[in-house]
Order: sequence, then structure tokens, then C-alpha cells
Amino acid sequence: MLQIGRKGHDYTTFGIKKHSALDKLFFSMHNACMSQKAQPIYTSGSTLFVRSYAKINLTLDVLGRRADGYHELATVMQTIDLYDTICLTVTDEPGVRVVSTRPELNGDDNLAARAAQALRQRLALPQGVGIELDKRIPVAAGLGGGSSNAAAVLLALRHWWQLPLTPPDLLAIAASLGSDVPFFLTGGLALCEGRGEHVTPLAPHWPYAMRWLLLLKPTISVSTAAVFRSLPADDYTDGTYSRAVGAALQTKRVPQLKDFHNGLERGVLERYPEVAQAREDLLKAGAAFVRLSGSGPTLFAPFSELASATRVRLRLHEKGYETYLTRAISPHVENIHFF
Ligand code: C5P
Repeated sequence: MLQIGRKGHDYTTFGIKKHSALDKLFFSMHNACMSQKAQPIYTSGSTLFVRSYAKINLTLDVLGRRADGYHELATVMQTIDLYDTICLTVTDEPGVRVVSTRPELNGDDNLAARAAQALRQRLALPQGVGIELDKRIPVAAGLGGGSSNAAAVLLALRHWWQLPLTPPDLLAIAASLGSDVPFFLTGGLALCEGRGEHVTPLAPHWPYAMRWLLLLKPTISVSTAAVFRSLPADDYTDGTYSRAVGAALQTKRVPQLKDFHNGLERGVLERYPEVAQAREDLLKAGAAFVRLSGSGPTLFAPFSELASATRVRLRLHEKGYETYLTRAISPHVENIHFF
């Protein structure tokens, strides 16, 4: 049985190798730097605070349905400055307990709880974990909140308890929790393939014209499984959009608007009139471009100027919409490079 210690800082980094099969500019996740600083961590005695960021999907190509029931994807994701705060404490009681500002998220099913439990079981850890979750990321919204919480807990406990887990170990645990969880181990900008678990981090380059991201969360929740289940083969694409956007950003070129494609969007707009209405209202309020994030229902619109984003946001508030004004953020780098 492994006894844990509450040691200070371990900023071990792992070697980075170039990916040979993909674009040479891309890095392979399996060799990538899963920095201990991927999520900011503040410790105080036996308590540890972690930020857990949301994401948007700039693109989402669905390549086809797989034998295991999942879909083969290519998607470019970016973490954004909208985050939940997680407070971890070590407890003497065995097990994991979650208390959230959204009480419906309390319980063993919570992905953050399952992440802590997976580590305890894997390493036969005797200590229990208390998880307090101040939820700000909308739930079941296409913003990856639950997956991000799980990755944040994995990284934080590994760092805090100095757990003997290699990056591939951590990746395997993350992938077993959900398709988006591996992305959040590094965050930033990345091309994700396979089920979503093959993560190729991209350089933190971001178009100036997209400095501000206005998010609109329609009141409905959308089940990712239901969206994938009803997806017709007509909406499958071959990954071209995601590769084009990934390659453009990596080389500091502004991607073409037509390449910001989300293969789930057509079906979601058709099946959920609230989302179609919200999209129309965002455009009417002055957004030049609107896209669905993941399986939705959250929509995002990029702006170069804060003043225009704010004007649009106020018009949406007058209509009673829930909105978030945010920006791209790469938790492990000082500053994103705007071009
Ligand atoms: O992996 P995760 O549990 O987050 O996925 C939720 C649901 O979304 C899956 O049960 C599956 O129905 C669908 N999904 C999919 N293909 C993916 C990812 C998710 O069909 N690559």
C-alpha cells in the first residue's frame, strides 16, 4: 500500500518529441509535457485549491461510428477563462465525498469523485478525499466542465501526493473517465483525435480578431450521447476542417471561417429549436459569426473588440439570455501569442 505525503512542489517535466505521423509541427500527447503547472494549484496545509477551466470546440469533425459505439473524431479544442474552483482536503474517512454549489452534482457519479476514486483504487491509497466544487461552468453545456474537473483532480492529487504515475498511466486513467478528460490534462490549444483521447497540443497562438469570446448558454441541457446517437452519416466529414484550423493556428495564420465546422451543429439546431433561436438572436444582436461548442447547447461568438462584445452581450441580457464573456487561456503558459 502506498502511503502518501503532502509534499511541496514537484515540477518534473517530461521529454517532448516531434510527432512523425501527423504534421511535423504537432506534438504527440504521449510524449507531451503534462506540466504539473497545467492547472494553477494553491496549497495551504491539508487543503488544496485548483482551478478547472472550460473549453470550446473550434471545430468538430465526426469521421464515423466505431465498433465500440463511440465516434471517431477530429476536433480542435481550446481552454477558456471560465473556471470552476475545486477545494481538496484529505479526510480520515475512507472514500470520496463531493459537495458542490450545484447540489445535483453531489454524489459518487460526479466525474471529479470518480477521478479521485480511480486514483485511490489504482494505488490502494487509504486516505479519503473531500471535494468541494464551486461550479461556475454551466453543466451539460458542451463546455467540458465535468471532464475538466476530473482532470484537475487527477493532476492535483498526483502532484500533491507525489503519486508514482507516469504520463501514460495518467492518460489511461483520464481516458477511462471520459473522452474529453485527456485533453484537460494539458489544456491550451490542441487537436484531439480518436474518441478524443489522442491529444496533440498546438502552440498557443490565437487570432487577434478572436480575443474575446461571448458564450450564450440556452436554458436547455443537451445529452451528448443523444446527439451522437441521432447523427446521420451525411454529417460525417474526413477531418479536413480540424486539420486546416489546427495547421493555420500553429503557423499563425487566421483560419478561414468555413473551416470552423462543427459536424454536430446541424442536427442540434434541427432537434433543439431553443438553440436555433438563440443562434439567430446572437446574430441579430450583432455577432458576425456563431458556432456551437461540442454537442452544445452553448454557442460562442468571437469578437476582436471588448466594446462590441459588450454591446452584443447587453442586447442578449435584455432578452433574458445567460451569457459569459471570456477569452482563450492556456493554463501552462504565461501568455498566448496573438497574431
Ligand atoms: O466519453 P464520454 O462519456 O464523455 O462520452 C459521452 C457519450 O458521447 C458517449 O457515451 C457516446 O455516446 C458519445 N460519444 C461518442 N463518440 C465520442 C465521444 C462521445 O459517440 N468520440
